[in-house]
Order: sequence, then structure tokens, then C-alpha cells
Amino acid sequence: MMSDFLPRKDVYKVAVVGATGAVGATMLEILAERNFPVGELVPLASSRSAGSTIEFKGREYVVQDLEQFDPTGLDIALFSAGGGTSLKHAPRFADAGCYVIDNSSAWRMHDDICLIVPEVNPHALEMAKENHIIANPNCSTIQMVVAIKPLHDAVPIKRVVVSTYQAVSGAGGSAIDELAKQTRSLLCGEPAEVEVLPERIAFNVIPHIDVFMDDGYTKEERKMIDETRKIMEADIAVTATTVRVPVFYAHSESVNITFEGPMDADKARSLLADAEGICVVDDPATADYPMPSEAAGTDPVWVGRIRGDDSCRNSLHLWVVADNVRKGAALNAVQIAEILVRD
Ligand SMILES: NC(=O)c1ccc[n+]([C@@H]2O[C@H](COP(=O)([O-])OP(=O)(O)OC[C@H]3O[C@@H](n4cnc5c(N)ncnc54)[C@H](OP(=O)(O)O)[C@@H]3O)[C@@H](O)[C@H]2O)c1
Repeated sequence: MMSDFLPRKDVYKVAVVGATGAVGATMLEILAERNFPVGELVPLASSRSAGSTIEFKGREYVVQDLEQFDPTGLDIALFSAGGGTSLKHAPRFADAGCYVIDNSSAWRMHDDICLIVPEVNPHALEMAKENHIIANPNCSTIQMVVAIKPLHDAVPIKRVVVSTYQAVSGAGGSAIDELAKQTRSLLCGEPAEVEVLPERIAFNVIPHIDVFMDDGYTKEERKMIDETRKIMEADIAVTATTVRVPVFYAHSESVNITFEGPMDADKARSLLADAEGICVVDDPATADYPMPSEAAGTDPVWVGRIRGDDSCRNSLHLWVVADNVRKGAALNAVQIAEILVRD
């Protein structure tokens, strides 16, 4: 594996942009858990929370205003503060020599920006030596490509049909609060206020994530289609229906795959069991399968319900579950940072 991204040092100066948000807070947790070699930490957010404090490894740090911050001397900046913020500030950080790992959708489909899932396409990181910006894929895309890559390496994939069951945390801290508040209100016989998500989410399912496009797909669905093809570097036909469900953490996906040749459930189960970053839980006899209640707070991509599709040749079904804020965002970003500093 390559190593010459950053000069070799014992510790690095790391900024977390959006440190007060759902993803930023988890990035801080994961940097600490994995003992990432942070020498100096700089938490950044908007002027709204500048001056507040966050905790990292038992120490308090004052959150600074991104607009006012000079990135000179930073090694790595983990951005999770929305697309507009990334478009405006990532180039400023990259020009100062810092590697930006960006969680927003702002840079993902730019031809000269790499889109990285460490288990799938770490080689593509080479491109970042030019421009110092690395895009972290959409949460739903990350868990799906981790699950389908080992199968694609064995027998090329022709087509993927995915339906998602996405947790509210995918829409940020305010959507987590909205599900909690609406649930409480409805159980108390009071009206539920809708402020963040497009419809009431408590005791409901919303087939609408991000904005609708002219062709009838939502932007979330389009992201899954385009990002999968870019990360897999393959001309795979992908179609998606993305759905928000009243779950706090961890996205689930029903993934139907058609291969170029034969692939049976036993072979798929054994390939997935050996693959990096995947845990297979798949035993109909004991009714064992992955669920968000168990995947939340964990790092792997969990795969189960692996079975042949009787309706179509060379086709399989998978059920794929992962913590969207961890593997779908913060953990994936920290894993990329680990490659940048790996000796
Ligand atoms: N949640 C997920 O599962 C997930 C997965 C993949 C990618 N993402 C992406 O990650 C980003 C953050 O998501 P989130 O779920 O953490 O959202 P969030 O909980 O709403 O947090 C947003 C963070 O961004 C900061 N911020 C907003 N506007 C800013 C500005 N103009 N300048 C500086 N900081 C600003 C906020 O700081 P203040 O406290 O100052 O408002 C806060 O720290 C989004 O781009 C999202 O698409 C999220």
C-alpha cells in the first residue's frame, strides 16, 4: 500500500469541520477509539457554535469559526458540514497543503476527485496527490459497495436493484430530534410537527430522500447509481429506491444482484465471510439476520438473507445493514485518513 501522502511524523495536526454535528461528533469518537495519531486537534463549525466546547480524549477544546480559521500547517481536515461549506472552504484548505476528506456530496462526481471506500478502491487515492481533496461517498452507497465488491471480483456484476430503509440520522442531528419529538407527541395524543424531513416520520415510511429530479428519481437515488459505478470502476446497471424509515441509526438495504455468470448463495456466503469489513449473519434455521438495532454503534457491514433469486438467472438477494454515521460517514473518512498516514 502507498504511504507517501504526508511526511512521516509521530503525530498530525487534524481539523474536524462540522465538529458539533452528528457525523463530526462521531469522527471525534472514532479518531479517539482508533488512536489516530492526532497531535493537535482543531474543531471547527459555523459562527453559531464557535466558542462552545467539545471533548476529545478527556480534554475540552473550544470550537472555532471556520470562516475565520487559517488552515496553514494542518495535515488533514475531515469535513462534514454540508455541500456549500465544502465547495467554499475545501479548496482553501487544500491550497494550504492539507488533505481534505469531504463527507458532503459536493465533490463526489468531479472527474479529478477520487471517491474512496478503503475496502473497495484504495488505489484511486493516488489521484488526491494532485489536488488534496478526497470525497467520502454517500452512506447508502458505501455499505452496498463493500458488500458487492467481493462478489463482483469473483463473477462480474451486470445489474443491481436496491431498495433502502434509511435511518433518520442520515439527515443530521435535527432529524434525530424530529423522530424523537414526533413519537413522543403522537403517543401523548398531540399533533406531530414536521420541520426537517419532508413528511411525518414517526410511525411512517417516506419514499423521498433529498430532492426530486426531472427523471422522477430522487437525488439520493441518483447518488447511489452514479457513485457505485465510479467506485466500482465498472459499467454496472444500477437502479435504486431510497426510503426513510423511523429508525434512529443504521441503514438497511435489500440488494438484488444479477451476475454475468453463475453465482450461488453458498459461494456468495463464503466470499462475503472472508471479505474485509463484512460480517455475515445468515441462518434461517435460527432466524438470524442483520438488523439496525444490532448494527447501530458497530463498524462492520452486516450481510444476511443471502439467497438465490428464483425469478432471474444468475441472480441473488442480499440484505445489507450498517451504521450510517460510522461506516457510512465518519469511520470511512477516518479509514481514509489512516491510509494517508500509514507507513
Ligand atoms: N448523517 C449521515 O449519515 C451522513 C452520512 C454521510 C454524509 N453526511 C454528510 O455530512 C455532513 C454533515 O452531516 P451531519 O449529519 O453531521 O449534519 P448535522 O448534524 O446537521 O451537523 C452539521 C454540522 O455542520 C456545521 N455547519 C453547518 N453549516 C456550516 C457552515 N456554514 N460553516 C461551518 N460549519 C457549518 C454545523 O455547525 P453548527 O453547530 O455551527 O451549526 C454542524 O457541526 C452533510 O454534508 C451530510 O450530507 C452525513
